[in-house]
Amino acid sequence: MKKTNKITIYDQGKYFRLDTDRTTYLMGVADGLFLGHFYYGGKLFEEDPFQNPILTPPSSENAKERCIFMDSYPFEYPGWGAGDSREGALKVKDEEGATRTQLLYQGYEVLSEKPEIPGLPSTFANEGEEVPTLRIDLSDPDTGVEVSLYYSVFSGCDAISRSVVVKNGGKGTVQLERVLSLSLDMTGKDTQGRELELLTFQGIWAREFTRDLRPIGFGRTSVSSICGKTGNRNQSFLGLVSPGITQNSGEVYGFQFLYSGNFCSSVEKCPNGDLRVSLGIHPEEFSWTLQPGESFYSPEVVMTYSDEGLGTMSRNFHHLFHEHLIRGKYTHSKRPILINNWEATYFDFNTEKLLDIARTAKDCGIEMLVMDDGWFGKRNDDSSSLGDWVVNEEKLPGGLSYLGEELEKMGMKFGIWVEPEMVSPDSDLYRAHPDWAIAVPGREPARSRNQLVLDISRKDVRDAVFSMLEKVLLSTKISYVKWDMNRHLSDLYSAELPAGRQGEFLHRYVLGVYDLQERLLNTFPDLLLENCSSGGARFDPGMLYYSPQIWTSDDTDAFERIKIQEGAATLYPLSCLGAHVSICPNHVTGRTVPFETRGNVALMGTFGYELDITTLSDEEKAQIRLQTSRYHRYNDLVREGEYYRMASFRENGFYDCYGVVSKDRSEMLLTMIHVRNQPCNPYRTVPVFGLLPEGMYRVTDIEKEEKGEEPTVCVASGAALARAGLRLSCRYGDYQSVLLYVKRIESEK
Ligand code: DGJ
Repeated sequence: MKKTNKITIYDQGKYFRLDTDRTTYLMGVADGLFLGHFYYGGKLFEEDPFQNPILTPPSSENAKERCIFMDSYPFEYPGWGAGDSREGALKVKDEEGATRTQLLYQGYEVLSEKPEIPGLPSTFANEGEEVPTLRIDLSDPDTGVEVSLYYSVFSGCDAISRSVVVKNGGKGTVQLERVLSLSLDMTGKDTQGRELELLTFQGIWAREFTRDLRPIGFGRTSVSSICGKTGNRNQSFLGLVSPGITQNSGEVYGFQFLYSGNFCSSVEKCPNGDLRVSLGIHPEEFSWTLQPGESFYSPEVVMTYSDEGLGTMSRNFHHLFHEHLIRGKYTHSKRPILINNWEATYFDFNTEKLLDIARTAKDCGIEMLVMDDGWFGKRNDDSSSLGDWVVNEEKLPGGLSYLGEELEKMGMKFGIWVEPEMVSPDSDLYRAHPDWAIAVPGREPARSRNQLVLDISRKDVRDAVFSMLEKVLLSTKISYVKWDMNRHLSDLYSAELPAGRQGEFLHRYVLGVYDLQERLLNTFPDLLLENCSSGGARFDPGMLYYSPQIWTSDDTDAFERIKIQEGAATLYPLSCLGAHVSICPNHVTGRTVPFETRGNVALMGTFGYELDITTLSDEEKAQIRLQTSRYHRYNDLVREGEYYRMASFRENGFYDCYGVVSKDRSEMLLTMIHVRNQPCNPYRTVPVFGLLPEGMYRVTDIEKEEKGEEPTVCVASGAALARAGLRLSCRYGDYQSVLLYVKRIESEK
């Protein structure tokens, strides 16, 4: 038996076992040939794999009925067309056009370091940390294709990452027609024998991250994207949960895909009720040619399991992303409080207006001005100039350098909006290089928001885009870039690729986005990058590898944001949810929510403003001063703390409550929003999770404390707060909110 802390190999590679702190993942090889999956769930005892036949591989030896074996064996990474009629993970076409792909076990290696995935985002170990990785090698003897499956164990957050490398080890050219990153066979039941349900997040513009929970029917159910980016219609996440799952109870398997293009995540319920979960690049519009000796790298999938409800899954993902995916100096530090001029002015601004906004903002404690769309070319609406990244001197006399210098004199940082993947047909760039836009030769490409997409799968186009960006960023001191992407891809075709390789285009496009962002960060390591795609249409873990924050939604209505941010926070750390206070009536919904509540909702994200601050009343400006000081007081906690959801407006229809607790559980920031008032219901009682049961805590009302009033709401143990709950008086009117600070009082001694 060979053993590291987290990876155990039994019988020279007959069984493989991965252990996180609270989970076990078990594989085995049938007859030395077929790698199978035998268990994923709560932690098993050391001897378990050998005592329970369910956890050991069956025999494959019955040539007469090979298909029955192939069609029922729990393949760890299923091939194609060799008798398994369930969803396959790898499909390889050889030079004869045959697609049978049968993967046989070859060997394994335990690596002490987690390898990077060339050109793709991936989770990493921090310096001095151990993230052991198991590589299992398979091959298809007929084509010579070699497959390496990588498993890395992040024990503290109960997460395992998986990725796949496919190498053409044969003599002929092969075509990969599907390469999924994960396949997982499992029973369709939780440990109580209840049928697992499917949890996904769907949406559309301004309504991102809507939770969807449904029973799993027989056959295949999938959520996917085929629009060239992740899109806002479905998150590339798939959850399998116990019926009646809550924040603290029930079992949950969560899978996420670290990729920003087309994906397919599916669950197939087999006739015997077993499930096959699959996640990877959508096989539609995908193929990849491998010459002998060449390799293809799949994007990474991360997964976690918990028997303690959805909240634990969220915290596991948050921990994994915050510590092992998001990079750069801003990961663990406060981001400057920004004011963005989009909802303030849209395209109608000039230097004077921006400096007015900046001056007032500075006076209220805001630290950075972000100039949004409309500063370049002749762009006064969305009909022109994308691609012409040259400042419009009519609007901004003296250019970016004058504006940047004036802001610097004021003590304000400067941020800028760009949409580098796009080109307007009415632009100098398009007139000079019409062939750089994605289009099928001889056919008129479909415009969206008047724009076309640059073929950044091409290196020459990428180089040109990068040097334009570099020039802008070198022209003055720019601290922040908002990288937008406002349409999906259509008219798929790349002039660089031969006819037989057009199926590579979409993946090459995504690799192009990653390459550009990586270059940007290498050239400007101090830059704070925020990704955006018409709001949250490219909010995925892949983009988080490049930007520590992503604009969550163009819907800045705090009421809508309660739901959107709840959905987003189920999967992503609060530190990456772009959240701003905007003007009311809200531009998207027409709704009016009190200024204080708008601030409290944005505080649980990156925090910033998106309004014309120069037109606000003195009272509103005073509120901004208060909100910015709250940000400085509580952002360390929000960014680094652990997220607990106590109540959901989406479920109860009246109030929402969530909090972040410090890792040592000595303090918590709790937000309670009385979303809809109800007559004859003066109180709401919410359980407060996440505190130490034996700790004594003082709960204070932050607003009262700021006003110099007696702020104590109660003094109680963590156990009492979790079990009996905290009783909070309702306020008159809708959308009222209260911020509470919970502090362990023993630690004050
Ligand atoms: C879409 C973004 O989501 C908005 O915040 C804004 O930047 C516009 N694009 C600008 O065109």
